[in-house]
Amino acid sequence: MSTLYRVDTSVQAGTSVTHEIADEFESAWRAAHPGGEVTRRDLVHTPLSPAVWTEALAAREADHPTAAQTAAVEFAAALATEVLAADALVIGAPLYNWGVSEHLKCWIDMLWTDPRFAPRTYPLTGTPVTLVVARGGGTSPGAPQEGWDHSVPFLRHTFGTVFGAEVTLIETELTLAEHSPAMAHLRDRAVALRANSHALARAAGAGTVRPAA
Ligand SMILES: Cc1cc2nc3c(=O)[nH]c(=O)nc-3n(C[C@H](O)[C@H](O)[C@H](O)COP(=O)(O)O)c2cc1C
Repeated sequence: MSTLYRVDTSVQAGTSVTHEIADEFESAWRAAHPGGEVTRRDLVHTPLSPAVWTEALAAREADHPTAAQTAAVEFAAALATEVLAADALVIGAPLYNWGVSEHLKCWIDMLWTDPRFAPRTYPLTGTPVTLVVARGGGTSPGAPQEGWDHSVPFLRHTFGTVFGAEVTLIETELTLAEHSPAMAHLRDRAVALRANSHALARAAGAGTVRPAA
């Protein structure tokens, strides 16, 4: 039986673009994998704590780990096991304050404490990981804020280079144009980008096309 592991990290649950695109991916994946199982972890609904990460880190140096340190190590191991058990991952990655969502960062940091995710182990080799990115402004070449997205480079490097996964990137930008008068001239472009992301998510979920990472 195939398994998809879905991670959501939007703080805007009711209107989230990453949720919307990941939903599209998930339904295409379900259609392509009858009987497949989807495990979901919404890191905003059920956040991880940086304090637990600190305990998991401290446990590595401790001769006699405290109860809190042991619990943190066990929790990180459970998270790592969930990820390693999946045949594919889809991860919602909104851009907040020009960086990676802290909910997502904490989850990655927790995984990194598990020995199975140690450097140069490439634990996700052969696993397709689809990053569903959304940002309110424009950071593409030629945009006034070109290069300001500091989330995507980190995520591609982490999942691709460090974890060894086959990374697919689905990016939607200008998501604020719909409601921002200052961005009214960008609305047609925003609609087209969103529609393109839906098409990519359908194709990537079905496994028929792998957009360039
Ligand atoms: C707290 C917060 C910070 C944001 N910071 C940025 C930013 O730095 N740059 C940007 O282009 N958009 C920014 N946005 C807009 C989001 O990137 C945009 O709403 C995107 O659709 C987020 O994905 P989501 O809809 O799945 O939450 C921010 C939104 C919020 C709520």
